[in-house]
Amino acid sequence: MCGIVGIIGKDAARKVINSLKILEYRGYDSAGIAVMLNGRIEVRKAAGTIENLISRYPDILEMRGELSIGHTRWATHGKVSDSNAHPITDCSRRIAVVHNGTIDNYMEIRERLSAKHEFRTETDTEVIAHLIEEKLNRGLGRLEAFVSAISELRGEYAVACMFEGANELYLARNRIPLVIGVGEGENYCASDVIALLNLTNKFIYVNDGEFALITSKNIDVWRFEEGRLIPVEKRINLVDWSPSMTSKGKYEHFMLKEIFEQEDVVKRILMESRRYIKGALSILEETMKNGGRIIFLAAGTSYHASMVGKYLLNSLLGYPSEVSIASEFTRWNLRGLSEDDLVIAVSQSGETADVLMAVKSAKEKGAKILSFVNVPGSTLSRESDEVFFFSAGPEIGVAATKTYVAELVSFLLTFTELGKITGDPVYHVAEALPRLPSIVASCLESSNRIAKALSEAIKGENSIFFMGRGINYPTALEGALKMKEISYIHAEGFPAGEYKHGPLALISEGTYSIVIGSNDQEIRDLLLSNVNELKARGSKVISVETDEHLPSDIRIKVAENGLPEEVLPVVFVIPLQLLAYYTAVTLGRNPDKPRNLAKSVTVK
Ligand code: G6P
Repeated sequence: MCGIVGIIGKDAARKVINSLKILEYRGYDSAGIAVMLNGRIEVRKAAGTIENLISRYPDILEMRGELSIGHTRWATHGKVSDSNAHPITDCSRRIAVVHNGTIDNYMEIRERLSAKHEFRTETDTEVIAHLIEEKLNRGLGRLEAFVSAISELRGEYAVACMFEGANELYLARNRIPLVIGVGEGENYCASDVIALLNLTNKFIYVNDGEFALITSKNIDVWRFEEGRLIPVEKRINLVDWSPSMTSKGKYEHFMLKEIFEQEDVVKRILMESRRYIKGALSILEETMKNGGRIIFLAAGTSYHASMVGKYLLNSLLGYPSEVSIASEFTRWNLRGLSEDDLVIAVSQSGETADVLMAVKSAKEKGAKILSFVNVPGSTLSRESDEVFFFSAGPEIGVAATKTYVAELVSFLLTFTELGKITGDPVYHVAEALPRLPSIVASCLESSNRIAKALSEAIKGENSIFFMGRGINYPTALEGALKMKEISYIHAEGFPAGEYKHGPLALISEGTYSIVIGSNDQEIRDLLLSNVNELKARGSKVISVETDEHLPSDIRIKVAENGLPEEVLPVVFVIPLQLLAYYTAVTLGRNPDKPRNLAKSVTVK
C-alpha cells in the first residue's frame, strides 16, 4: 500500500529517497518527492519505480534542501499516472501533501471547491491540499488551516504536509499507520519503523485522531477536541531492529534471505520472546477458567498460522476454539460475543485493515484481545490487552515466510507453557521445541537443492494442487498460497479427504499434486489411499514426509519420523516456501514484489 516519508534535516531529499526505497516492499505503482529549496517547494514525481523517478529527474539526489516529503503510491482513486502520483499540491503550489488511505467524502469537497480551485489530478488526496489552501486564504495560520482541513475529512488517512517557506512538517493520522522518528537535530516521519531504521531507532507512535507538528528540534502532538488542540504527552520507544536487517546481504532476494533466517527466528523466539509469555498465559488461563470463547482472527498467511493455532489449542489443551478470516468476521460472528471471550489476533504487520476492523468490533462487544505481532509499535499491538511480539525482524518480501514459522513457534511455545500450568499432556511437544532450530536448519539444507530441481519440472504447469490432513491441512493452503502469489501458477490447497468430492475432476495425466505427510499412523493410512487414488488418475505426486511412507513419485524428506505431529507444520512448510521461490525465479518473476500484491494491506 502507499508509503509516506518525511524528513527535516540535512540532505533531506536523499534521505527520503533512501527510505522510499525501503518502503518499496509495501507495493506501489508511482513515486514522488517534494523538497523545500530556497523557501520554495519543488516536486518531482512519476508513474513507475523509484529508479525510474531518479532517471527521469537526475537532479533529485542533488537537491540540498532540509525539508522533504516523499510517497510511494498504490493507486486507489485515479489511474497510475505522473499527475496522480504524490506529492500533490494546491493551486498556488505553496502546499505539498502526501497521503495514504482513502477520503470517503472527497467528491463532496471537490464539488464545493471546484469553482475557486483548479484540480489537476483524479485523486481523492487533492482535496486535502485545496482545503488547506482555502483555509489559509481565509486567514488561518498553518497549523489551524491544517487541523481544520483534516477535521473535515471522512475516511482513513496518514497525511504529511509542508508549506512554502516553513521548515515544518505537519502530520495527521486516522486508522492508517504513521510513526515519528526522533533524530539528533533532525526528525522524521514514515509509514513504518522499517523505513527509518537507517536514521534512528527511537520512535513515537501517532494515534488515531492525533496531529503533529515537527521541526528539526521539536515534536508536538495534539488531539483536536471540541474545537481545541489539546497537547498529548508521547513516549519515545526504542526499537531493537538494526538497519542491516533491511538489506539483502548475500542473497539475491529478500524472500530467500528470510527463508534462511528461519533457524535464527525459531531460536530467538524460544529464547527471547519468552518475556512476552506471561501476559499471554494469564489472559488465556482466565478465559479458559471462565469457559469463554477463543477466536483466532487473521488474514492471508497469518490466517493459515491461526488455523494451526486452533488445532494446537485443541490437541494440546483440549480447548475448543474458532478461527475466522478477519474480513469474514462480520456482525453474525459478533452475536453472543461477551467480556468472557478472547480474540487472538495474529498479524505480521499489525496494520492489516481487515484485522484491525474485526478487532475493533470484538472490543466493542467487550471481548479481550491477545495479539501475536511482529512489528513493534504497530496499531494492533497498541489496541490489544496483551501482546506476544514474536520478533522475527523486518520481513521485506511481500510473501510472508519467516513470520509464518514465527507465528507457529510462538503458538507452540505459548500453548505448551499453558499446558504445563493446566496439567495437560504437552511434554512430548515441549521436549521437541529446543531441537527445533537445528531441525529447521537441516530441513533448509536438505530441501534447498531438491526444491530448486523440482522448480524446473513444475515451471510449465497451469495448475498445481496441494493437500494435507489435520494440522497439515493449513500447510497445504500455505504451500499453495506461496506458489500462486509469487510464481502466478494457479495453485490450490485442499484437505486431502475432500479431494474426491470435487477437485479430483481436475486431475489428468501428469498433473502435479503435492501431498503433505504425517507422523500419525491413522492420518498416514488415509493419505496412502489418497495418493493411490491420485496416481491411478495419472497425477505425479510429490510428497513432503519424514520418512518413506507414501508411494509418491518424488519425495522431499525432512525432519524425523518420531517428531510430534504438532511440530510438523513448522518444518513441512519450508520446502514449499523454497519450491515457490525457485519456481518464481525460474519463471523470471520477482518473488519480493509480486504483481498486484502489497505487504501490508491497510485498506478494507
Ligand atoms: C498481505 C500480505 C501477506 C500477509 C497478509 C496478512 O496480503 O501480502 O503476506 O499474509 O497481508 O498480513 P499480516 O501483516 O496481517 O500478517
